[in-house]
Amino acid sequence: MGGKSLAATVRDRLPFLRWSVIRFALGGRTFLRTGQVGDGRERAAREFVLAHSAAGDPDGVLAAFDDFARNHSLLVNIGDEKGLILDAALRKTAPRLLLELGGYCGYSAIRTARLLGGDARLVSVEMNPDNADIARSLLAHAGLADRVNVVVGTIGDGGATVKRLADEHGLSSGALDFVFIDHDKSAYLPDLRAILDAGWLHPGSVVVADNVGIPGAPDYRRYMRESEGATWRTTEHHTHTEYQSLLEDLVLESEYLG
Ligand SMILES: C[S@@+](CC[C@H](N)C(=O)[O-])C[C@H]1O[C@@H](n2cnc3c(N)ncnc32)[C@H](O)[C@@H]1O
Repeated sequence: MGGKSLAATVRDRLPFLRWSVIRFALGGRTFLRTGQVGDGRERAAREFVLAHSAAGDPDGVLAAFDDFARNHSLLVNIGDEKGLILDAALRKTAPRLLLELGGYCGYSAIRTARLLGGDARLVSVEMNPDNADIARSLLAHAGLADRVNVVVGTIGDGGATVKRLADEHGLSSGALDFVFIDHDKSAYLPDLRAILDAGWLHPGSVVVADNVGIPGAPDYRRYMRESEGATWRTTEHHTHTEYQSLLEDLVLESEYLG
């Protein structure tokens, strides 16, 4: 335990004893259906972050998010541990056009946009309009609104969102440098296939997928393993689920070989 307080040890090593985690588990089905836990924590997170971070300071905004998720109510942000994997992939790739699937309250979009240079842009696709609204307001607070477009929709909605991405957000043949996948785990592989079918990727495009271990996207992991060295080259990052150190998770970083 070292110098850690009992409360910090419980929070980190025994997350199931936290009420906000238990409440999250109770709201699991609601979350899968709606993208929100159902107890108002996403709106509460916005109020907390606005009150506890300075405008125009993305790192301060992320720190306030992490504080809220760790010490108040658990949020399914990629978080500060796995976020470093995303940061490293972004720094290595230096992408100009990026797509995110699953924006939630804007944490990963802020994390991503703060590292973008020049005229680089992120398009974040989020199915829940209330989450999209929260994400937009926190991106604006972080001073990053001009780098990110939050689009309400899903890749699997029959073509409407794919058409919007193409017509209004510049996703065209070979234009997409980076994809962050962090939404419905059963949609990871079908949505990646839809992106491939649209022809948006180019050799060297990088796709990072969160939560491949927990809750898990086994078909996505199998696909990447079977494609290894032919159409994709993948690094599996062994890490932990957000905001605790008990449960292990996997983040996949895959380079498209064409
Ligand atoms: C794990 S959270 C995303 C966390 C976020 N990437 C972050 O790290 O800050 C998943 C989000 O995906 C959204 N979602 C679920 N299914 C979706 C789909 N098919 N397309 C787009 N968004 C979806 C949910 O509403 C929820 O906001």
